[in-house]
Amino acid sequence: MREVNVLLEGKTILVTGAAGFIGANLVMELFRTVENVSIVGIDSCNDYYDVKLKEYRLGEIESLTEQKKKSSWTFIKGNIADKTLIDEIFAQYKPSVVVNLAAQAGVRYSITNPDAYIESNLIGFYNILEACRHSYDGGENGVEHLVYASSSSVYGSNKKVPYSTEDKVDNPVSLYAATKKSNELMAHAYSKLYNIPSTGLRFFTVYGPAGRPDMAYFGFTNKLLKGETIQIFNYGNCKRDFTYVDDIVEGVKRVMQCAPEKKNGEDGLPIPPYAVYNIGNSNPENLLDFVQILQEELTRAGVLDQDYDFEAHKKLVPMQPGDVPVTFADTSALEEDFGFRPSTPLREGLRRFAQWYHKFYQ
Ligand SMILES: NC(=O)c1ccc[n+]([C@@H]2O[C@H](COP(=O)([O-])OP(=O)(O)OC[C@H]3O[C@@H](n4cnc5c(N)ncnc54)[C@H](O)[C@@H]3O)[C@@H](O)[C@H]2O)c1
Repeated sequence: MREVNVLLEGKTILVTGAAGFIGANLVMELFRTVENVSIVGIDSCNDYYDVKLKEYRLGEIESLTEQKKKSSWTFIKGNIADKTLIDEIFAQYKPSVVVNLAAQAGVRYSITNPDAYIESNLIGFYNILEACRHSYDGGENGVEHLVYASSSSVYGSNKKVPYSTEDKVDNPVSLYAATKKSNELMAHAYSKLYNIPSTGLRFFTVYGPAGRPDMAYFGFTNKLLKGETIQIFNYGNCKRDFTYVDDIVEGVKRVMQCAPEKKNGEDGLPIPPYAVYNIGNSNPENLLDFVQILQEELTRAGVLDQDYDFEAHKKLVPMQPGDVPVTFADTSALEEDFGFRPSTPLREGLRRFAQWYHKFYQ
């Protein structure tokens, strides 16, 4: 087990992508469980998907922080690709811990909108790294730990399962994956050069209430409700390691508190305080089983009628460019170092999603 070496109490934490699905859930978990914390959130609130969801999540954070008198919440609507803004935020708030979740997500969208990925995932992340680097200027304590989102998509069409962080991942099959792998490489260089403790987290298909409408479970639900047909890719021969958002947030919180140690090598130069972990359920589900469970939970929650004709609204179609047939996380390193592995069963997670969906939309 790794020792806690970053105390969150009394600290300032910068969360980028704070209005996003994982970001908002992380901010709420930190407010619930850490005393006397200052959280600065930044998000461009772009319209990649319905902005109302981002506003809803920010509203949830606001109502939670009203009860937490000793802690503070600052939200900045802005773009991490704006270097001046990022430098100003670091100069004003001096965050001790930075969690970079802002990114253009989605594999398919990267085929039609590559610019968004270069802007947010590369330029934006570079600005965060530069700001972390300069946080130590003038002998300041600076950033104690940079935690950032990578993705299971870096494994591309890796044949070996489960996917381990020891596997060579130099064959991305989408620009999205290439930007996430680039983030790991950039973080490595900055950790080595400037001794910035950094940890990358490869998330595996995260789902849950108020999640992302571009993801299958949410998109399928929207389509079925409208009476449209859902497309099941690769004729259903896909396996995904679905990870419930609370498990991801718990993992991120534990990781935030254990920064890779700063050490010098025999040459007197820093050994990069750098780490990368998988966070996934380590239990891939067949796409058709997943659709079956989703159907059952949607009818159970009252989103769809008991006699809904699912068979008439499903179409099996070939694989899409950029997609991969299987994702399967080896989480042994996470378990060993943090005594934790995601464990929420898919049915339980989809039940919570279906209940939230019913309340939110109907
Ligand atoms: N959800 C998943 O299954 C999954 C899987 C692997 C990796 N990830 C990664 O985890 C992170 C969070 O994902 P999420 O599912 O919460 O996605 P999300 O789209 O809900 O959240 C990302 C947030 O970042 C914001 N954003 C995008 N570009 C920005 C920019 N340039 N400046 C400021 N804000 C910007 C968006 O408005 C959005 O609110 C992302 O880095 C994503 O790539 C997610």
